Amino acid sequence: MATWSNLNLQNGASPLMEQMIFFHDHTLMILIMITILVMYLMMNLFFNKFINRFLLEGQMIELIWTILPAITLIFIALPSLRLLYLLDELNNPLITLKSIGHQWYWSYEYSDFNNIEFDSYMINNNDLLNKFRLLDVDNRIILPMNNQIRILVTATDVIHSWTIPSLGVKVDANPGRLNQTNFFINRPGIFFGQCSEICGANHSFMPIVIESISMKNFINWINNY
Ligand code: CUA
Repeated sequence: MATWSNLNLQNGASPLMEQMIFFHDHTLMILIMITILVMYLMMNLFFNKFINRFLLEGQMIELIWTILPAITLIFIALPSLRLLYLLDELNNPLITLKSIGHQWYWSYEYSDFNNIEFDSYMINNNDLLNKFRLLDVDNRIILPMNNQIRILVTATDVIHSWTIPSLGVKVDANPGRLNQTNFFINRPGIFFGQCSEICGANHSFMPIVIESISMKNFINWINNY
């Protein structure tokens, strides 16, 4: 989860988030190189006493400074497209979880099993013993780690967004539509997320919590629900 003064991305807990962090770093490196080059060129242009005698006849340099950025953009566009298609790929999910956005809470359904369904409300400020303020919920999502999981997302009233930064998931929940995403949690732990569509007065107070546990414990949870 995010802690104080963390200005970076949260650690990735899924292979897709790892790929997104790689892409972010790659793009940032290109951005830094461009910024340094442009700053160097501008400094040189400001602090010299040259006079340009051929101001309107610079075809060659114009050709160069048109083609070079185009080539640079390809180095960003191709990995970006690869990532875009990778994010949408479903690999035989073992479990399907439905998450439904409401004003202002989420409800979940595990229709694969005993039709488990429950609402998930933020924990009240007065009941925070061993909980995280504004991030914890009364009924957490339980999911098994090291398994492909499909999420179906929708809403009943207005647009919400089911977002978990450490898993690299962000899907809008639209009324009358069913959106799909998938992820693979590669370690046990508790992963926090929040709604990220401005959905009304209590938009900030409908967090999402996933408890990632082993398959054995997950089956145990399902059986004893
Ligand atoms: Cu639901 Cu913002």
